[in-house]
Amino acid sequence: MKILILNGSPRGNGLTVKMIEAFRKGAETKGHSISQVDVCRKNIHGCLACEYCHTKGNGTCIQKDDMQQVYPLLKEADMLVIASPVYYHNLTGQLKCTIDRFYAIGTKEQLTNLKKVAMFLASGDPDMYDGALFSLKGDFEDYLNLEVSGVYTANGEEVPQKTLDALFAFGRDLM
Ligand SMILES: Cc1cc2nc3c(=O)[nH]c(=O)nc-3n(C[C@H](O)[C@H](O)[C@H](O)COP(=O)(O)O)c2cc1C
Repeated sequence: MKILILNGSPRGNGLTVKMIEAFRKGAETKGHSISQVDVCRKNIHGCLACEYCHTKGNGTCIQKDDMQQVYPLLKEADMLVIASPVYYHNLTGQLKCTIDRFYAIGTKEQLTNLKKVAMFLASGDPDMYDGALFSLKGDFEDYLNLEVSGVYTANGEEVPQKTLDALFAFGRDLM
């Protein structure tokens, strides 16, 4: 399976990255092909709503920034992992810009390979996930018709070992 991980954390060794690493280790044991985009290290602007993509652009975005590296990965992916800290009750702004740019190609008719989505969320306080989960349901499960195959959360200073173990097993047991 081709898995695309969109990492919305700017911190190189924060909770989000630790969750991703545990998942990756599990998925790699089964030979899944994994691409990861650390969106905070990229130059990805927000959508301009210019509608070029749906008119003259024929599914291509007019903005030639680093999102051009993400589009082919997204088109090939069977599974998407949205991994993010919670900032002001939602995904980070950098990740939100990336998701908004799905607009150019992001319909279920165009993303024919994509079948599954998972979300990994890190927060300071517990139970701060409603904003991100609203997007998961509305944008990914309902609009893109994806199967939600897992949601994993961690809050505070460290990711508990049992969550890391569960993420490893989640990656390892993906079908
Ligand atoms: C700009 C900003 C906004 C944040 N907003 C929230 C919030 O609304 N709720 C919350 O529980 N934690 C909030 N936090 C804390 C982060 O979610 C928390 O530190 C998380 O572990 C960061 O993920 P990371 O370790 O992967 O970087 C915020 C942190 C920052 C920097």
